[in-house]
Amino acid sequence: MDNIIIRNAVEDDFQAIANLALNCSPMITERNSIYHIFTRFFQNTVFLAEIEDEKQVKELAGFLIGFMSQKNKEDAYIHLLCVHPSCRGMGLGTDLIKKFLKVVIKMGCKRVYLITKPVNKTAIDFYTKMGFKKNHGYKTNIIGGEEVIKDYNGKGEDMIVFQKIISD
Ligand SMILES: CC(C)(COP(=O)(O)OP(=O)(O)OC[C@H]1O[C@@H](n2cnc3c(N)ncnc32)[C@H](O)[C@@H]1OP(=O)(O)O)[C@@H](O)C(=O)NCCC(=O)NCCS
Repeated sequence: MDNIIIRNAVEDDFQAIANLALNCSPMITERNSIYHIFTRFFQNTVFLAEIEDEKQVKELAGFLIGFMSQKNKEDAYIHLLCVHPSCRGMGLGTDLIKKFLKVVIKMGCKRVYLITKPVNKTAIDFYTKMGFKKNHGYKTNIIGGEEVIKDYNGKGEDMIVFQKIISD
Protein backbone atom coordinates (compact mmCIF):
# COMPACT_ATOMS: atom_id res chain seq x y z
CA MET A 1 0.00 0.00 0.00
CA ASP A 2 1.24 3.50 -0.92
CA ASN A 3 -0.02 5.31 2.14
CA ILE A 4 1.73 3.12 4.73
CA ILE A 5 4.69 4.53 6.57
CA ILE A 6 6.95 2.31 8.68
CA ARG A 7 9.13 4.30 11.06
CA ASN A 8 11.13 3.94 14.26
CA ALA A 9 9.38 4.80 17.50
CA VAL A 10 9.98 8.01 19.39
CA GLU A 11 9.42 8.38 23.11
CA ASP A 12 6.05 10.12 22.75
CA ASP A 13 4.60 7.11 20.89
CA PHE A 14 4.16 5.00 24.03
CA GLN A 15 0.59 6.08 24.80
CA ALA A 16 -0.65 5.42 21.25
CA ILE A 17 1.03 2.00 21.36
CA ALA A 18 -0.64 1.27 24.71
CA ASN A 19 -4.04 2.23 23.26
CA LEU A 20 -3.60 0.04 20.18
CA ALA A 21 -2.39 -2.88 22.32
CA LEU A 22 -5.86 -2.97 23.90
CA ASN A 23 -7.14 -4.20 20.49
CA CYS A 24 -4.59 -6.97 20.19
CA SER A 25 -5.99 -9.88 22.18
CA PRO A 26 -4.85 -12.65 22.63
CA MET A 27 -1.52 -10.83 22.71
CA ILE A 28 -0.67 -9.73 26.26
CA THR A 29 -0.96 -6.09 27.25
CA GLU A 30 1.74 -4.48 29.31
CA ARG A 31 1.73 -1.65 31.83
CA ASN A 32 2.23 1.73 30.13
CA SER A 33 5.66 1.96 31.74
CA ILE A 34 6.85 -0.99 29.65
CA TYR A 35 5.79 0.69 26.38
CA HIS A 36 7.45 3.87 27.60
CA ILE A 37 10.74 2.10 28.36
CA PHE A 38 10.75 0.54 24.90
CA THR A 39 9.97 3.77 23.07
CA ARG A 40 12.64 5.59 25.05
CA PHE A 41 15.49 3.10 25.23
CA PHE A 42 14.93 0.64 22.35
CA GLN A 43 13.95 2.97 19.51
CA ASN A 44 16.26 1.28 16.99
CA THR A 45 14.21 -1.93 17.17
CA VAL A 46 10.71 -0.58 17.84
CA PHE A 47 8.66 0.17 14.72
CA LEU A 48 5.34 1.81 14.02
CA ALA A 49 3.16 1.38 10.93
CA GLU A 50 1.09 4.45 10.18
CA ILE A 51 -1.59 4.98 7.57
CA GLU A 52 -1.77 8.42 6.06
CA ASP A 53 -5.08 9.69 4.69
CA GLU A 54 -5.60 12.12 1.82
CA LYS A 55 -5.27 15.06 4.25
CA GLN A 56 -1.92 13.61 5.36
CA VAL A 57 -3.28 12.79 8.80
CA LYS A 58 -1.42 9.78 10.18
CA GLU A 59 -3.08 7.04 12.23
CA LEU A 60 -1.25 4.29 14.08
CA ALA A 61 -2.13 0.97 12.45
CA GLY A 62 0.46 -1.37 13.94
CA PHE A 63 3.61 -1.71 15.98
CA LEU A 64 6.45 -4.12 16.61
CA ILE A 65 8.47 -4.06 19.83
CA GLY A 66 11.73 -5.94 19.68
CA PHE A 67 15.30 -5.83 20.93
CA MET A 68 18.72 -7.36 20.61
CA SER A 69 20.01 -9.72 23.28
CA GLN A 70 22.68 -8.28 25.57
CA LYS A 71 23.96 -11.77 26.36
CA ASN A 72 24.42 -12.86 22.75
CA LYS A 73 24.54 -10.14 20.12
CA GLU A 74 23.61 -12.66 17.44
CA ASP A 75 20.16 -13.07 19.02
CA ALA A 76 17.18 -10.75 18.62
CA TYR A 77 13.72 -11.01 20.13
CA ILE A 78 10.29 -9.78 19.12
CA HIS A 79 8.30 -9.09 22.26
CA LEU A 80 5.05 -7.71 20.81
CA LEU A 81 3.55 -7.34 17.36
CA CYS A 82 0.12 -5.91 16.76
CA VAL A 83 -1.88 -4.68 13.79
CA HIS A 84 -5.16 -2.84 14.32
CA PRO A 85 -8.10 -5.20 13.61
CA SER A 86 -9.35 -2.95 10.79
CA CYS A 87 -5.94 -3.11 9.05
CA ARG A 88 -5.25 -6.85 9.23
CA GLY A 89 -4.66 -8.96 6.15
CA MET A 90 -3.14 -6.01 4.27
CA GLY A 91 0.50 -7.01 4.76
CA LEU A 92 1.31 -4.63 7.60
CA GLY A 93 2.46 -7.38 9.96
CA THR A 94 4.74 -8.65 7.19
CA ASP A 95 6.12 -5.14 6.58
CA LEU A 96 6.87 -4.66 10.30
CA ILE A 97 8.66 -8.01 10.55
CA LYS A 98 10.67 -7.35 7.37
CA LYS A 99 11.77 -3.95 8.68
CA PHE A 100 12.81 -5.45 12.02
CA LEU A 101 14.76 -8.27 10.33
CA LYS A 102 16.56 -5.82 8.06
CA VAL A 103 17.68 -3.71 11.00
CA VAL A 104 18.80 -6.55 13.28
CA ILE A 105 20.66 -8.25 10.42
CA LYS A 106 22.60 -4.98 10.00
CA MET A 107 23.33 -5.06 13.74
CA GLY A 108 24.86 -8.54 13.34
CA CYS A 109 22.00 -10.73 14.54
CA LYS A 110 21.71 -14.25 13.16
CA ARG A 111 18.62 -15.52 14.96
CA VAL A 112 15.26 -14.04 15.93
CA TYR A 113 13.05 -15.50 18.63
CA LEU A 114 9.52 -14.87 19.84
CA ILE A 115 6.86 -16.72 21.75
CA THR A 116 3.18 -17.26 21.01
CA LYS A 117 0.31 -18.68 23.01
CA PRO A 118 -0.99 -21.94 21.49
CA VAL A 119 -4.52 -20.42 21.31
CA ASN A 120 -3.25 -17.73 18.94
CA LYS A 121 -3.79 -19.66 15.72
CA THR A 122 -3.62 -16.51 13.58
CA ALA A 123 -0.19 -15.64 14.94
CA ILE A 124 0.98 -19.25 14.50
CA ASP A 125 -0.09 -19.17 10.83
CA PHE A 126 1.42 -15.73 10.40
CA TYR A 127 4.86 -16.58 11.83
CA THR A 128 4.95 -19.90 9.98
CA LYS A 129 4.25 -18.01 6.74
CA MET A 130 7.10 -15.64 7.65
CA GLY A 131 9.50 -18.60 7.83
CA PHE A 132 9.74 -19.02 11.60
CA LYS A 133 10.24 -22.59 12.92
CA LYS A 134 8.57 -23.95 16.03
CA ASN A 135 10.23 -25.06 19.27
CA HIS A 136 13.69 -25.77 17.89
CA GLY A 137 15.69 -27.78 20.44
CA TYR A 138 12.94 -27.93 23.06
CA LYS A 139 11.15 -30.91 24.54
CA THR A 140 7.51 -30.50 23.51
CA ASN A 141 4.07 -31.86 24.36
CA ILE A 142 0.94 -31.89 22.24
CA ILE A 143 -1.71 -29.94 24.13
CA GLY A 144 -4.98 -28.81 22.53
CA GLY A 145 -3.73 -29.97 19.16
CA GLU A 146 -0.60 -27.78 19.25
CA GLU A 147 2.98 -28.75 19.91
CA VAL A 148 3.93 -26.62 22.91
CA ILE A 149 6.61 -26.17 25.54
CA LYS A 150 4.70 -26.99 28.68
CA ASP A 151 4.89 -24.43 31.51
CA TYR A 152 7.39 -22.35 29.49
CA ASN A 153 6.40 -19.16 31.32
CA GLY A 154 5.48 -20.82 34.62
CA LYS A 155 2.79 -23.26 35.63
CA GLY A 156 -0.05 -23.45 33.10
CA GLU A 157 1.63 -21.01 30.72
CA ASP A 158 2.43 -23.26 27.77
CA MET A 159 4.05 -21.48 24.84
CA ILE A 160 5.32 -22.02 21.33
CA VAL A 161 8.83 -20.65 20.84
CA PHE A 162 9.45 -19.54 17.27
CA GLN A 163 12.92 -19.13 15.84
CA LYS A 164 14.12 -17.82 12.51
CA ILE A 165 17.66 -17.97 11.20
CA ILE A 166 18.38 -14.71 9.44
CA SER A 167 20.99 -13.52 6.99
CA ASP A 168 21.38 -10.96 4.18
C1 LIG B 1 -0.67 -11.64 13.78
C2 LIG B 1 -0.89 -10.28 13.12
C3 LIG B 1 0.22 -9.32 13.62
C4 LIG B 1 -0.78 -10.43 11.59
O1 LIG B 1 -0.78 -9.14 10.99
P1 LIG B 1 -1.39 -8.88 9.53
O2 LIG B 1 -0.96 -7.51 9.12
O3 LIG B 1 -2.84 -9.15 9.52
O4 LIG B 1 -0.62 -9.99 8.67
P2 LIG B 1 -0.31 -9.97 7.09
O5 LIG B 1 -1.42 -9.28 6.38
O6 LIG B 1 1.07 -9.43 6.87
O7 LIG B 1 -0.36 -11.53 6.75
C5 LIG B 1 0.76 -12.28 6.30
C6 LIG B 1 0.41 -13.74 6.25
O8 LIG B 1 0.10 -14.25 7.55
C7 LIG B 1 -0.94 -15.23 7.46
N1 LIG B 1 -2.13 -14.74 8.18
C8 LIG B 1 -2.37 -13.48 8.60
N2 LIG B 1 -3.58 -13.42 9.20
C9 LIG B 1 -4.12 -14.67 9.14
C10 LIG B 1 -5.33 -15.25 9.59
N3 LIG B 1 -6.27 -14.52 10.23
N4 LIG B 1 -5.53 -16.57 9.39
C11 LIG B 1 -4.60 -17.33 8.76
N5 LIG B 1 -3.42 -16.82 8.30
C12 LIG B 1 -3.18 -15.51 8.50
C13 LIG B 1 -1.27 -15.41 5.99
O9 LIG B 1 -0.46 -16.46 5.51
C14 LIG B 1 -0.81 -14.07 5.41
O10 LIG B 1 -0.41 -14.19 4.08
P3 LIG B 1 -1.50 -14.02 2.88
O11 LIG B 1 -2.16 -12.69 3.11
O12 LIG B 1 -0.65 -14.07 1.67
O13 LIG B 1 -2.45 -15.16 3.05
C15 LIG B 1 -2.29 -9.69 13.46
O14 LIG B 1 -3.28 -10.67 13.19
C16 LIG B 1 -2.47 -9.23 14.89
O15 LIG B 1 -2.15 -8.10 15.23
N6 LIG B 1 -3.01 -10.09 15.77
C17 LIG B 1 -3.29 -9.73 17.17
C18 LIG B 1 -2.02 -9.54 17.98
C19 LIG B 1 -1.18 -10.80 18.01
O16 LIG B 1 -1.69 -11.88 18.23
N7 LIG B 1 0.14 -10.63 17.78
C20 LIG B 1 1.07 -11.74 17.69
C21 LIG B 1 1.43 -12.32 18.98
S1 LIG B 1 2.73 -11.44 19.79
